Amino acid sequence: MKTIIIGGGIIGLSTGWQLAKKGIEVEILEKASAGRSASWAAAGMLAPQAEMGFEDIDLFYLCRKSLELYPKFLEELYNDSGIKIELERTGCILPAFDRDDSERIRRLYDFREKIGMPVVWLSGSEAREVEPFLSPRCTGAVWIEDDAQVNNRLMLEALKIAFVNCGGKLYEDHEVEKINITNGRIDGVNIHGINIKADSVIVAGGAWSKQIPGIPKNLLPPVRPVKGQIINLKLNDSCRITKVVRAPDVYLLPKSDGRLILGASVEEMGYDVTPTAGEIFRLLERGWEAVPSIYDLPIESIDVGLRPGSRDHMPIVGDSEIEGLFFATGHYRNGILLTPVTAFELSKWVASGHSSEILNGFGISRFYKETV
Ligand code: FAD
Ligand code: GLY
Repeated sequence: MKTIIIGGGIIGLSTGWQLAKKGIEVEILEKASAGRSASWAAAGMLAPQAEMGFEDIDLFYLCRKSLELYPKFLEELYNDSGIKIELERTGCILPAFDRDDSERIRRLYDFREKIGMPVVWLSGSEAREVEPFLSPRCTGAVWIEDDAQVNNRLMLEALKIAFVNCGGKLYEDHEVEKINITNGRIDGVNIHGINIKADSVIVAGGAWSKQIPGIPKNLLPPVRPVKGQIINLKLNDSCRITKVVRAPDVYLLPKSDGRLILGASVEEMGYDVTPTAGEIFRLLERGWEAVPSIYDLPIESIDVGLRPGSRDHMPIVGDSEIEGLFFATGHYRNGILLTPVTAFELSKWVASGHSSEILNGFGISRFYKETV
């Protein structure tokens, strides 16, 4: 049995690695460099609640499940790659600067309390005890101590190594030009006009997933690029924040490699990946309002990535009505967080032919009746 994965982002690499571990012959075909698209630009937060509407309760529970799977995932990754990735429980503070912010974070506080998850309401001065670099304008905050993060860039390196160590083949600069389907089942994919045979194909092309020719029209995943710009500042003694700060319209994320990430814009700009003055200005301004001492930090670089946003902003993971055609795309703002659950569950599904209960409801079939 042979599986081809289209796309060498965090989703393609992790699912490929898990399949290769099961003894399946796997090839990942990546049109550019593996792990250099959205998965590289990502901040690496493992913290769904603050970005998500609580209406998406199924997605929330999928994210929680994935976070629970992280320790096992990282341990296996260490065994197969020799690279240790820490699950860093940095904790996250959501400051309020006015009544509006206060009402917004109150919703989050109430939700977490209702489902029995740890959450603490802090006064302004208590908030500054937790994170002394917070602005004195902070009037109150929510403190979430179990929010985590990973070094997603190191994780991508580890995944490439683990995949190859387990027998997988990674081909970079290999654009899949077409998916070939014969009599309702997968035949293979075209590279340079030649059909490479496969029993199953997983579409993990991130923001480009809808553009891959050969997918039947009714199965085209409704995924679009959602541009995200981040600024990498360099932490120094003038500002050494240690907690994630999620202020209105900006997050500040201290990384163990010495960066302080200010993110992120959320823009509908097609496939444009140009950094722009307006968004960078806005991130800096909002970041500075929340943590004034960022003012003197050196700017290291700016990164731009395209999030794969599905129509309902939920991932599209599972099989389709074409035998052997699977999707793993649409992870939008939570692809790093959702990596373990996608990789473990989809690899079991592809290898065994038995669908995953955990992924129930996240398949492409939920869009069948809609027009793409
Ligand atoms: P990608 O990493 O984009 O990989 C897809 C790959 O498919 C690309 O390498 C592309 O070249 C390849 N490809 C496409 N078409 C073809 C083809 N025809 N042939 C061959 N190859 C093809 N998520 C979190 O959980 N936490 C965060 O803190 C976080 N922060 C983010 C911050 C920013 C600024 C951005 C942009 C995203 C963030 N995300 C975060 C979201 C996360 O990055 C994505 O959900 C995730 O990276 C998607 O992974 P992917 O593998 O599907 O896509
Ligand atoms: N999850 C962070 C982002 O999408 O910007």
